[in-house]
Amino acid sequence: MVGSLPTAAAIAHAGITLPADAVIAIDGPAGSGKSTTARALARRFGLTYIDSGAMYRALTLAARRKDIASEDGDRLAALLAAARLELRDDRRESSVIWDGQDVSSAIRTPEIDRSVSRVSSHASVRAVMVERQRELGRRGSVVMEGRDIGSVVFPLATAKIYLDASLAAREARRHRQFRDGGRTVAPQEVRRELAERDRRDSERAESPLTISPDAIVLDTSDWSLAEQIERAAETCLINPYLDTLLDTDRESAVRALPLNYRIAYACFDQIARFFGLRQIGYNRRSVPAGIILVSNHVHWYDPPIIGATFLRSPLRTLAKEELIHGPLGFLFRLLDIIPIHRKGYDADAFGEARRALQNGSCLFIFPEGTRRPVGRPGPVKNGLGILCQETGADVLPLFIRGTWGLMPGGSPRSPLEVRYGPMVRLHALPILQRQYDRQAINRRIAKLFETIFCELQARCYRDRPETPFEQGLFQRLTRKFAAKDRRLFGPSP
Ligand code: DC
Repeated sequence: MVGSLPTAAAIAHAGITLPADAVIAIDGPAGSGKSTTARALARRFGLTYIDSGAMYRALTLAARRKDIASEDGDRLAALLAAARLELRDDRRESSVIWDGQDVSSAIRTPEIDRSVSRVSSHASVRAVMVERQRELGRRGSVVMEGRDIGSVVFPLATAKIYLDASLAAREARRHRQFRDGGRTVAPQEVRRELAERDRRDSERAESPLTISPDAIVLDTSDWSLAEQIERAAETCLINPYLDTLLDTDRESAVRALPLNYRIAYACFDQIARFFGLRQIGYNRRSVPAGIILVSNHVHWYDPPIIGATFLRSPLRTLAKEELIHGPLGFLFRLLDIIPIHRKGYDADAFGEARRALQNGSCLFIFPEGTRRPVGRPGPVKNGLGILCQETGADVLPLFIRGTWGLMPGGSPRSPLEVRYGPMVRLHALPILQRQYDRQAINRRIAKLFETIFCELQARCYRDRPETPFEQGLFQRLTRKFAAKDRRLFGPSP
């Protein structure tokens, strides 16, 4: 629940450390102290430090050497795709190697500063770069800094830190950096360059610099370096600390279930076992009260299969009102679903969902609003953002796969799997609410969960690759669902 964060003393007292596969994402504008902080965290926690900005800089340098214009996204992406780009981090110094050549100092010049934002603004370039960055972080134990690390590259990072600082503070720091490096640059020049880069990095259409709703924002303007590092280190441990509070006793949670849920879950459990469900994440845990569970949605069979993985009550589901009047209406009434009218905004349904959360129930929703073609999660509708903003609830994302190919004992055509992600806590909501209107925040929350569903899908496919059956379904269903979307929600913008 968004609110006051645990104190450093509580975290230290609980003896919390980072999990072995931790990924720390640090974002923020130029000059906010990301590199220094990230390096210090790498040393403190024994992580590999990755400077994603250096990767964009190396590409910018290579493009200049090959006379590729910074506007030519396709050629830039091709150049990057064909290159060997390595980052070496020996704890004291990190180096950037492009096709075997150390370019660590050549990428830190005013010329590169000036053109790197443009080079990094192309969707085609970012697609290749983000894949490289994800590959570097795949095994975890990394701290990566940049502009879109929490929002795009690692949407399920263990900790997301957004470092901010006033333009004046950043200008003073940059000026000192230049002076220490033996360069003289006029203060107005430093300020102009920072302001220009801020503007380009945050206004570009593709993965702009943005505060991910689940980031913890640290304004470092008035902090010493030591203080900044200390606060960042404490921040890394906040989610792992809050996770330890989730470790409640599943057996007693099950015993406390009201009879109607106990019967329904027992049925769902039998169905799931029959079809060979594999469940990943949250296996031995029950889930705290008052959270929102969100899932992608591909088939009518999703709800009972997901129900089989969830053992905490009461779980209220927002579901289309037609279900109440259908042949299984009695079952849905037994499970106390919240019927929703899907055209437009159903204030009654949202009011009831909000009250359910505030009374300590968990709420289940399919935030895409309807079923989507297998293999293509999203787009997420505004409803999730509305509920998050109204209640500040934490969100537990999960991904379901395989309900189109059910076969007794498990299907090789499409493995049946429910994969839970970590709990997503929208720490930044109060700050975002001071800066943006509600609609803009809804969009950001939607975007975050679209990225999370894609990441969970990628994890499923990494374990068990997408099958030809699933690829065929994707083709078939894409056409079918496009027509249904138009009927339900009107023409797409
Ligand atoms: O952190 P830096 O100043 O070295 O980054 C150089 C540029 O690269 C920055 O202006 C924007 C871009 N960048 C980006 O678009 N996404 C990232 N994750 C990192 C950097």
